[in-house]
Amino acid sequence: MSESVHTVATLPTARQPGCPFDPPAELTDARRHGPISRYPFPDGHEGWLITGYDLVRSVLADSRFSSRKELMFHHPLIDYTGVEVPPAAPGEFLLMDEPQHGRYRKPLVGKFTVRRMRQLTERVEQITAEHLDAMEKAGPPTDLVTAFATPIPAIMICELLGVPYEDRGYFQKQVESFMSGETSDEDLMAAYTATQTYLAELVAAKRANPTDDVLSDLTDSDLSDEELRGMSLILLAAGLDTTANMLALGTFALLRNPAQLAALRVDPTLADQAVEELLRYLSVAKTFMRTALEDVELGGQTIEAGTAVILSYNTANRDPERFADPQVLDLRRQDGGHLAFGHGIHQCLGQQLARVEMRVAFPALVNRFPTLRLAVAPEEVGLRPETADIYGVKSLPVTWDV
Ligand code: HEM
Repeated sequence: MSESVHTVATLPTARQPGCPFDPPAELTDARRHGPISRYPFPDGHEGWLITGYDLVRSVLADSRFSSRKELMFHHPLIDYTGVEVPPAAPGEFLLMDEPQHGRYRKPLVGKFTVRRMRQLTERVEQITAEHLDAMEKAGPPTDLVTAFATPIPAIMICELLGVPYEDRGYFQKQVESFMSGETSDEDLMAAYTATQTYLAELVAAKRANPTDDVLSDLTDSDLSDEELRGMSLILLAAGLDTTANMLALGTFALLRNPAQLAALRVDPTLADQAVEELLRYLSVAKTFMRTALEDVELGGQTIEAGTAVILSYNTANRDPERFADPQVLDLRRQDGGHLAFGHGIHQCLGQQLARVEMRVAFPALVNRFPTLRLAVAPEEVGLRPETADIYGVKSLPVTWDV
């Protein structure tokens, strides 16, 4: 017998004015009622919303909850009535369960180890320094998103995959189109198709002339061209936008917390901890979905087979039962274990790369420009809507003394 449970009527499409770093108030309020709420999807499906840390983590570790794309036919904010969601294309392993998921993830794991990514530190330092030099040369003001936050992860992921330098602008534009949360369905489809076509050509080129990169390495396996294309798409979609938004939104958060920013500037040993805290505090990958494959008892409720579950990573990372003063950005925080990279079989494959990029980029930025500040009022900084998969700022106008 299920206990009585709170219901969230609709999910918000924007955050509270003046609170750009906090999860939407409706979600925090839901967590106060308990870690699990009912959520009526716009298509009428009676689903669930999980906002508490322990329950989110336990669902992520539970193989009775599926990530299969064809089971995700309810959208938390959009009425999908009548829409048939096809299974994930070969290689798109983020949207698969075992054993299909493992077939694609396993050959990639060795390419993203802590050791492999540490070896890239020098390259990240070099790219970061080049972009800071360019900012200094052009002078203030500038948009930190285009001058710094987007190009650094874009160059790293393109180099890892072996996307030629001259194609990067085109590439970033397509990915930006399907991540912004403001693209029409038609443009979304066009960007997706253009990216697919481009990646198919890239895979063929690597097969014909392998170079020193992850994609070329993978052509020496039993994976088909179609599978390699799908894997590349997932890596790009997951690796470009996430880190870029962490860098830009993270800088915004540091500028709004000057004592924390100053601590990071004077203490280089703080970088690793600071990055973990920014990941927790901002949780840019804010919600993911799962579908129950069988009836599951969870938090005093029965989640029936076939029911959709929204996992709110950002409220889980602000759960006071897990983190002391969770609403405070404290770069010296000791209680780790955030869920910003997820948990379980789909836990972020690129997390070590993202960490290296952020550990280099944040301290380098705040040290190069000690007087860095917003060039507009904080409330004028444009934020992404909640319809975007990844949260962040649209642009971040900054200035500094010369
Ligand atoms: C700060 C930056 C990043 C954040 C916050 C982040 C967050 C996440 C999260 C939460 C998941 C789990 C999704 C789920 O549970 O369904 C995930 C999966 C994934 N991420 Fe990241 N990510 C970041 C950077 C990257 C980078 C740089 C790459 C690639 C180079 C990457 C590649 C992936 C891949 C391939 C998956 C799917 C793993 C699987 O299904 O087994 N991510 N990421």
